[in-house]
Amino acid sequence: MMKKICTVVGARPQFIKLAMVSRVLRQEFQEVVIHTGQHYDYNMSDVFFETMHIPKPQYNLGICGGTHGQMTGKMLIEIEKVLLLERPDMVLVFGDTNSTMAAALAAVKLHIPVCHVEAGARLGTLMNPEEVNRIVTDHVSSLHLVCTSSGIEFLKKEGFSKTVHLVGDPMYDAFRFYTSELNGNELYTILGLDGDSIQIPKEFYYLTCHRQENTDIPKKLQNILDAMESLDSPTIYPVHPRNRKVAQELSAQRGYHNIILVQPVSYQISIALVNHAKKIVTDSGGVQREAFFAKKQCVTVMDHVCWPETMINDCNQLAHPDKMDILQKLNHKIDFKSDYQPFGDGHSSEKIVDIIKEFFNKRELDV
Ligand code: UD1
Ligand code: UDP
Repeated sequence: MMKKICTVVGARPQFIKLAMVSRVLRQEFQEVVIHTGQHYDYNMSDVFFETMHIPKPQYNLGICGGTHGQMTGKMLIEIEKVLLLERPDMVLVFGDTNSTMAAALAAVKLHIPVCHVEAGARLGTLMNPEEVNRIVTDHVSSLHLVCTSSGIEFLKKEGFSKTVHLVGDPMYDAFRFYTSELNGNELYTILGLDGDSIQIPKEFYYLTCHRQENTDIPKKLQNILDAMESLDSPTIYPVHPRNRKVAQELSAQRGYHNIILVQPVSYQISIALVNHAKKIVTDSGGVQREAFFAKKQCVTVMDHVCWPETMINDCNQLAHPDKMDILQKLNHKIDFKSDYQPFGDGHSSEKIVDIIKEFFNKRELDV
């Protein structure tokens, strides 16, 4: 009989990874997808399922908002109920969101092995809410599937080696797959925050900024936007719902005319923006990697390095949420090493599924 795997997702970047991994996983396993509900707006959730042809999740738990504790606690209760009903052979999780950690905790308490994709990423500070999720998830996982070799090193320091496998980055799989699918046919009108249709300018910068650390204090977001406003071409900024209100207020107060605030875009449009932008400013873990995949200069507004491999030759530089610091980093001349690709070969999904198969084969031999 086919083994059953429950994949738990909840946030935008997880739908993108699911799109790639699920296609391969379903050839070998029975997959049950649980959507926690963490992201729920059409353009933060459904758009990915529709445009990336991801089968509709069997469960949507409708859990969103509240404090970290409230959200995680509710997820733990509801995911446990589903796992008791479905009795899967494994729980598969991606990344570092509250949905990831809640699923991992619910599973391990029921003695269901957890497979963590994007394991071993570390910033080195517990002040970052996702770091807590990463550490807890890794420490209760039976399989640690890492995107790059730095993940192996971080996990080694925490005592994990036998369960760690370098598979490459499913975000790179997605980037390659959808960049070639677009093949110059980019859909080039997007929706402004008020619903009007906006034509993308020929030359532009791409900004994504949503992290709690940069947006909960409006002055920090203001500094970032002030930097973008002063650039020589307009900035396209798809605004995450977390900071929609504050971005709109700042735009009105400061009279920005060089920053185009738009609604969150589909994945295909986001990578088209990455591929065509002059330069990129972001605080997203995914977008800083995509900038690197596209060989675009990136400035990451964070205090800690998230993806060390992208920092080579200053291709990706950290900046404080400070206008002068961001502008200085953007003006720095950089050189991409053309043959350096530490994120795999675009087939990490196949490797992930092979390792899960091996895990079950080995278990059967051990019994
Ligand atoms: C979460 C992840 C973060 C990831 C991001 C991806 C955690 C701790 N953080 O952050 O790692 O980078 O997702 O985008 O899990 N909201 C809506 N509509 C939506 C989704 C969110 O209005 O569709 C609002 C809600 O009011 C919510 C707030 O945004 O309270 C923040 O959402 P939440 O899921 O808590 O965190 P993110 O900032 O999205
Ligand atoms: N992205 C998207 N629409 C947007 C902004 C980003 O599809 O409006 C994509 C982006 O290209 C990347 C992923 O979402 O593939 C990154 O997700 P996010 O920044 O929300 O989370 P993080 O990667 O920081 O966890």
